Amino acid sequence: MRGYARWLGSPAERSTMAHLAEAVRTGGPVFETVHGTPVWDYMRGNPASASVFDQGMTDISSQLTRSLVHGYDFGDTECLVDVGGGRGRLLSLVLAAHPHLRGVLYDRPEVVSRVDPALTREGVAERCRVESGSFLDSVPEGGDAYLLASVVHNWNDDDTVRVLTHCREAMAPGGRVLLAEVLVPDGPAPERTAKFMDLSMLVHCDGKQRTRAEFAAVAERSGLRLERVVPGAVASVVELVRA
Ligand SMILES: C[S@@+](CC[C@H](N)C(=O)[O-])C[C@H]1O[C@@H](n2cnc3c(N)ncnc32)[C@H](O)[C@@H]1O
Repeated sequence: MRGYARWLGSPAERSTMAHLAEAVRTGGPVFETVHGTPVWDYMRGNPASASVFDQGMTDISSQLTRSLVHGYDFGDTECLVDVGGGRGRLLSLVLAAHPHLRGVLYDRPEVVSRVDPALTREGVAERCRVESGSFLDSVPEGGDAYLLASVVHNWNDDDTVRVLTHCREAMAPGGRVLLAEVLVPDGPAPERTAKFMDLSMLVHCDGKQRTRAEFAAVAERSGLRLERVVPGAVASVVELVRA
């Protein structure tokens, strides 16, 4: 949790969270008001902060998604595209655990220029390609599974539909989209992780944690169908197929 703790304590993050009450009152993100730019532009212009942020995301997401590495059956997957895969920590763990898999890491250019050393280790590197670009414009073609781990929670429904539509258009016949996310339970269950993350998304980026029904709704708008949810220890895998 070291990287995530460093991010939570950083001036950029503390000054944002100080405006939590305003975000709750207005229902909109405050990051841009506090820092003068939306979150991803801020990261591009502030490499020192971005480096703390990227490491924080790498560390927290390996806590959230660790169960996915062995808990999801990749048996009939050949090429896994990790969309918004950050520095590739999760992808490297999945590739190491499933030697038949090939991978594509896809993220913003400034992120993939600093890939996790695990991804360049022998045994994984030759099965993995690294590509950069914006998933709001396109995603790499031809994968049979498109993983978005803690990605769509950063985006509102319209942008999420845009990204999911690109995945549907790019994926091979019979392909799937896998959303690794912490689900908000239906009803007022005392689930702390999802609800804390939901507030954090509200403050930073007009995103949100979603319920199963909310995932089904954005899937439908993207020409996809929610096939099943594979529960994990913290994050679950929401599996979407062509409608
Ligand atoms: C919360 S992080 C999750 C990272 C990674 N999936 C993980 O689980 O560690 C969200 C990722 O989305 C990436 N991202 C944001 N906007 C993007 C865009 N327009 N195109 C591609 N990647 C983007 C960020 O750079 C970041 O790596």
